[in-house]
Amino acid sequence: VAGARAYHANVIDHYDNPRNVGSMDKTDVNVGTGLVGAPACGDVMKLQIRVDPDTGTITESVFKTFGCGSAIASSSLATEWIKGKGLAEAGGIKNRDIAKELRLPPVKLHCSMLAEDAIRAAIKDVKGKQAAAAETVKVAA
Ligand code: FES
Ligand code: FES
Repeated sequence: VAGARAYHANVIDHYDNPRNVGSMDKTDVNVGTGLVGAPACGDVMKLQIRVDPDTGTITESVFKTFGCGSAIASSSLATEWIKGKGLAEAGGIKNRDIAKELRLPPVKLHCSMLAEDAIRAAIKDVKGKQAAAAETVKVAA
């Protein structure tokens, strides 16, 4: 089926042409940074999100991964999936969904786990920062 082949090509493309590689200012109050490591291999993933403080929507997401191809593809897919989502919805993304989409073999499951962990860590970071900033505004007022 042509559609199925196109779909698969699109998935493979996350390996060859990862999307959203980059870095944002981690001191920005609306930027959340998740930096996680895989104990199994020592690989490291940094995933960042920019969150609109008014709507709570992720408007931008970038990553840098020092790891295997599966980890890079997982982060690339993750950044595409979470863009435009609210924090709760983005936080619900499971590594199993990523692994299924990328057709990762069982031995590569922990690579997609990095992406799930990084999303969660980035969300936690930005929530903390935005809450602290809101608190400061209140105190100043
Ligand atoms: Fe490296 Fe899997 S062995 S993350
Ligand atoms: Fe290290 Fe995949 S082997 S993240």
